[in-house]
Amino acid sequence: MSKHIVLEGFMGSGKTTVGIRLSYKMAMTVTDTDKLIEKEQQKKISDIFAEDGEEAFRQIETECLIHLAEQGHGQIISLGGGVPMRPKNREILKTLGMVVYLRAKPETIYARVKNDTTRPLLQCDDPLTRIRELMAERERMYEEAADVIIDTDSLSVEQILADIVREAEKRGIQSCSY
Ligand code: S3P
Repeated sequence: MSKHIVLEGFMGSGKTTVGIRLSYKMAMTVTDTDKLIEKEQQKKISDIFAEDGEEAFRQIETECLIHLAEQGHGQIISLGGGVPMRPKNREILKTLGMVVYLRAKPETIYARVKNDTTRPLLQCDDPLTRIRELMAERERMYEEAADVIIDTDSLSVEQILADIVREAEKRGIQSCSY
């Protein structure tokens, strides 16, 4: 079974953008768990949260991860920000390939998501404080799941891609475009 490149990190850490750009650079397909869930459930994430609750969403995420783990071909997987919080999910992540944590400071995240209305967990009066609180809760689990940590605050997308490609090569995950 070929190895996947898995992107994890907080909301707004750049997983989706980096995933798409990396898929071009490495000629690998990319799957975004949020988009896959929306497609399969025929519902926006915000509607799943509002109508079924966060726990139901977390269960769907785990099922989505199990499904991806069963697929044999190596691909890029961008995870929803909360995926590594469940111990069961972290166990699955360890079997998937190389997990890259795109780390960013709360202020960087806030600047990117402040006008976004699609993330239910950040729809509150003081999103920056909420980001700080959630990050403090989550940091340890992102680190535990990660094989590679990239501090993205002052890096361009190109620099992030170069770091990931280098780490992938070290682990024998080859770009098809070579
Ligand atoms: C969440 C992150 C979101 C999405 C949902 C919950 C989280 O994905 O899965 O709103 O708990 O951090 P992004 O990280 O792609 O924004």
